[in-house]
Amino acid sequence: MKFSPKFSVRFNALLFAVAAVSLNLEARADAPIVIKFSHVVASDTPKGKAAERFKELAERATKGRVKIEIYPNSQLYKDKDELEALQLGAVQMLAPSLAKFSPLGLREFEVFDLPYIFPTKEVLYRITEGPIGKELLDKLQSKGITGLAFWDNGFKVMSANRPLRVPADFKNQKMRIQPSKVLEAQMRALGAIPQVLGFSEVYQALQSGVVDGTENPPSNFYTQKMYELQPHLTVSNHGYLGYAVIVNRKFWEGLPGGIRVELEGAMREATLYANAIAQTENDRAMEAIRKTGKTAVHQLSDKEKEAWRAALAPVHREMEARIGRDLIAAVNREAARDVAKEAAKKPAALIGR
Ligand code: LMR
Repeated sequence: MKFSPKFSVRFNALLFAVAAVSLNLEARADAPIVIKFSHVVASDTPKGKAAERFKELAERATKGRVKIEIYPNSQLYKDKDELEALQLGAVQMLAPSLAKFSPLGLREFEVFDLPYIFPTKEVLYRITEGPIGKELLDKLQSKGITGLAFWDNGFKVMSANRPLRVPADFKNQKMRIQPSKVLEAQMRALGAIPQVLGFSEVYQALQSGVVDGTENPPSNFYTQKMYELQPHLTVSNHGYLGYAVIVNRKFWEGLPGGIRVELEGAMREATLYANAIAQTENDRAMEAIRKTGKTAVHQLSDKEKEAWRAALAPVHREMEARIGRDLIAAVNREAARDVAKEAAKKPAALIGR
C-alpha cells in the first residue's frame, strides 16, 4: 500500500514526536528527586555539618534517586523568608532554630528559650527525643510542615562591647535576639533593650552599632566572626539553642513510600551525628575564640551566676500564659528527675548544698 508523500511526512513526524516524548519521560523517570535544604549558618557548625551528613546518608540510602542540594549561610533564603518559602514548596527542607517558630503561631516552641530550663543536655534529649518533642513536631502538620527531628547546638553565651558580669551591666544595652517573646522578656529582665534581627544581619548590626551585643552558642559566634566586633564574651550558658528539621508536608507525603522510609533512616542517623558533635564543636569554637585574642572571655563566679538566675527566674512565670503552664511544668518535671538523681548520689550531709 503506497502512502502519499504528505502522509509519510506527517506519519514520520508523529513517530518522532512519540519517540521524543517517551525518551523525555524515560529521562525524567531517571532524574533524581531534588531536595533543596536551606539554612542560615556556616557549613562548619553543628547544623552545617549535620546537613552535609544527611546529604551523604540520604543519597547513599536512595542510591542517587534523591539529590540533596544544601544552601548554607542564608545563601538561598534568610530567616525572614525561609519558612514561607518552605510552605510554598520553593524549598523542601529547613532546620530553623526553635526560637523561630512563634511567627507560625506555634508559641509552645519558645519553651526551649526559657532561661536555665535545661539543667543538662540529658534532660534536653529526653524532651526532644520523647513524647513532648513528638507532640511539638506534630503541631507543625497544621502549618503544612512535617517535623522530622530535633538537632542540637548548645547553650548560649552573651557578648557585648563591655563585660557582662552582673545584670546591672546589661542596662540600656541593645541586644540582638531571635524572634521569640521569651528572649525579649529575658533581655528586658536583665535591663537590656531586645532587638529582633535576622541571623544574616547580626554582623552588620554589631559593626554599625545598631546593636551592642548578642547571644548565641560559641559555634555561631565564632563562625560568623563576631569576635572581630565583640571585645567581651561571658560564658553564661543562660539559655539553649537547638533546631527542628522540617520539610514541606505535601512534598514529603508525595514521595514514593520506599524513598521516604530511606530518608527517615538517613535522618535518624544524621540526628545521632548532629547530637554527638554539638558539644565538641562548641568547645572547639570556644577555644578558637580565645586563640583570636580579640574577645575577652569572662567566667561568672557562683555569686554572679546566682544574680543572673534571680534576675531571669520571673521570665518563666511571665511566659506561662504564652507557652502553656502544663508544658513548662512537664519540662520542669523531667529536669527535677535529674536533680533528684544527682542528690541521691551525694552523701546525706551534703544534700541541699
Ligand atoms: C540565630 O538566629 O541566632 C540562630 O538561630 C542561627 C542558627 O540557625 O543557629
